[in-house]
Amino acid sequence: MSITEEMQKRRTFAIISHPDAGKTTLTETLLVFGNLIRSAGTVKGKKSGKFATSDWMEIEKQRGISVTSSVMNFPYKDLQINILDTPGHEDFSEDTYRTLTAVDSVVMIIDATKGIEAQTKKLFKVCRMRGIPIFTFINKLDREGREPFELLEEIEEVLDIETYPMNWPVGMGKRFLGIFDRQGKQFVQFHGNEQEQFIPYEELERAEYDEFKKTDEYQTAEEELELLDEAGDQFSMEDVLKGEQTPVFFGSALAPFGVKTFFDTFISMAPPPAPRKTEEGVVQPDNPDFSGFIFKIQANMNPQHRDRVAFLRVCSGKFEKGLSVKLARTGKTINLSQSQQFVASSRDNVEEAYAGDIIGIYDPNVYRIGDTLLEGKELFEYNELPQFPPEIYKRVTAKNVMKSKQFKKGIEQLVQEGAIQLFMKNKGESYIIGAVGELQFDVFKYRMKNEYNSEVLLESIGERVPRWLPEDQVNKSLFDERNMLVEDREGNHVVLFKNEFALKWFKDQHPEIELIDLYEVN
Ligand code: G4P
Repeated sequence: MSITEEMQKRRTFAIISHPDAGKTTLTETLLVFGNLIRSAGTVKGKKSGKFATSDWMEIEKQRGISVTSSVMNFPYKDLQINILDTPGHEDFSEDTYRTLTAVDSVVMIIDATKGIEAQTKKLFKVCRMRGIPIFTFINKLDREGREPFELLEEIEEVLDIETYPMNWPVGMGKRFLGIFDRQGKQFVQFHGNEQEQFIPYEELERAEYDEFKKTDEYQTAEEELELLDEAGDQFSMEDVLKGEQTPVFFGSALAPFGVKTFFDTFISMAPPPAPRKTEEGVVQPDNPDFSGFIFKIQANMNPQHRDRVAFLRVCSGKFEKGLSVKLARTGKTINLSQSQQFVASSRDNVEEAYAGDIIGIYDPNVYRIGDTLLEGKELFEYNELPQFPPEIYKRVTAKNVMKSKQFKKGIEQLVQEGAIQLFMKNKGESYIIGAVGELQFDVFKYRMKNEYNSEVLLESIGERVPRWLPEDQVNKSLFDERNMLVEDREGNHVVLFKNEFALKWFKDQHPEIELIDLYEVN
């Protein structure tokens, strides 16, 4: 098969939701379709102490949340499905944001009993910013939830996106009878825990359905459907692909009900890999030269190996084992002899991969998040990764000063993964780390102890506002504990201002000093 044909088969997407909306449950149901697991809920069950296939780190197990993004892939029909799992907890949104740079579409789950929640809104905004097509799955129809029209209205108003219901529910909760599949022109009947039943519209004309059609729920839904046909938004594939209209599906991930209808429609509409922007112009996904970028680095996924793995999204060409590529940042040539594809914690070696695929490559400590790897004569870089300013800062010290070697190694490696940022005071005399959320510090502390055998003490220095200083303007006498002068990993000087007010005051006092906001990009 040609590179173009292979690339056209890829559907790479992430599922985003507020915690508890049903992401794990839906992911598992999809894994059942891919024959990766036998039944949903077998791997997971917070209460039974078992955990989702996609939650593999110890800390995730302890907390029952998914901390890091993992990747699942399987063939389905004639397509190759790549699902990128994203952590739902808000403290890990930075990791989620990065994952969203590696996908071609997104499935947004909304809990029908709650509507749009804080985290949904945040994640949606990033998808919007990137123009990613968004498909909506309204979950938990087997519970008493909000009215479907009300939910659509909320999506339109709060998220400012047009909606197009691909199916329409009949009743809900105890009186949930099924959905009208508008595209497939069939009624999908809900039978509780039993298999759903697919009834083509013309079959509904038979006498046996007369009683069913007389129910209040059916009659109401039928009227609502008519209203939708007459007054609802028109379906526009063009708008969907631009991320301006979202196809909406109703169902229950747990039953599971409506999931197959959703998934089959979704994969038929979701786009294959699109061309990607670089500093040097646009790169087509079927360009014969291999290229891709690293959106995540993770150390010690397998404690027995103590290795680091960089997750790379292939953007063009064909990856083959042993491929020689260049690291665009340094121009150095690297042989990719060790690579893996991930299905939860089992690692299969990848023989080949195409645009849309995610591969894990062995990282001998040379990669950084955002790095571009490529084949061919030209050097260019994908600049896909948004930077998020850390908001909380803490001074970190080793409990046991004798173990400074492990301490330094641990910090260095965890910083390289990207979830925390490191700053140094007085040439490494003291270490300060910054993160977007409090939970990241817990994870940091836990991993330092478990993976590097280094217990750390963290002392808060509060929320800070970082600004970089041009090297010729570094005047140490202007700074103190309040506005702290530190260095970043590259040795550039940074001032961690106490707060916005302190920053403003400093600017007024020293208009001659240029302060650079490296996070201004978005
Ligand atoms: P998340 O990954 O988005 O956090 O959500 P997850 O799938 O873990 O689902 C959260 C809870 O909601 C789970 O209950 C799950 O069984 C339930 N759930 C998911 N989909 C549906 C659905 O379609 N209908 C109903 N009724 N429930 C659904 P849990 O394991 O009991 O967790 P918890 O209640 O202890 O939090």
